[in-house]
Amino acid sequence: MILFVDTANFDEISEAASWGFVKGVTTNPSLIAKENLTQKEIITKITKLIDGPISAEVTVNGYDNMLKQAKELFSIDPKHIVIKLPMTIDGLRTCKKLHELKIPTNVTLCFSESQALIAMENNATYLSPFLGRLDDIGQNSIELIEKIMCIKKQYNYDTKIICASIRNANHIVKCALTGADIATVPFKVLKGMVNHSLTDIGLKQFDEAIEKTAKLAKK
Ligand code: E4P
Repeated sequence: MILFVDTANFDEISEAASWGFVKGVTTNPSLIAKENLTQKEIITKITKLIDGPISAEVTVNGYDNMLKQAKELFSIDPKHIVIKLPMTIDGLRTCKKLHELKIPTNVTLCFSESQALIAMENNATYLSPFLGRLDDIGQNSIELIEKIMCIKKQYNYDTKIICASIRNANHIVKCALTGADIATVPFKVLKGMVNHSLTDIGLKQFDEAIEKTAKLAKK
């Protein structure tokens, strides 16, 4: 399963990119707003920090405005930029047009199988179903991912599924078990994936053994 980092913070992206197992970035207007720079400044800087897909979300309404902004955002770095579009009729129309223009897309704010179906029908490059926000209202987010993956396989859609709104490592593992293509993960959750109490205990035991051996070698 491919892992992206879900942040617009430069320090987090730089550190995550250094680990080796993080292959891309997703942003959204809320994440951009945290960084006190313009979207263009932030996206431009991010393209220098990681060599992978970088999702930049349109911030306007209406097909014509979305298409215009999408082309502007894509021009920042055609090698890395993916245009994130809302799950609306205008967003889906723009998705279809960008596919024809060979500009990659990521349809976001997906919360149902029917939304997933029409995004995949409109050749979305990526589709982002949100897990955490569904769990927050008592719905079964993993069941949605399982059904989306079933529909994708039934019709052999090319769309890659980016599991989003991830809240913990358990979300990631359960999504991986469904065969979902990608998970986009908050920095702290990503970093926490390496941790386990038994690993800490084992490392402490090995350190003590190494110290003991080193003392013997000095005699
Ligand atoms: C990623 O593309 C999404 O915008 C993000 O994962 C949403 O996460 P949230 O539901 O915690 O805001």
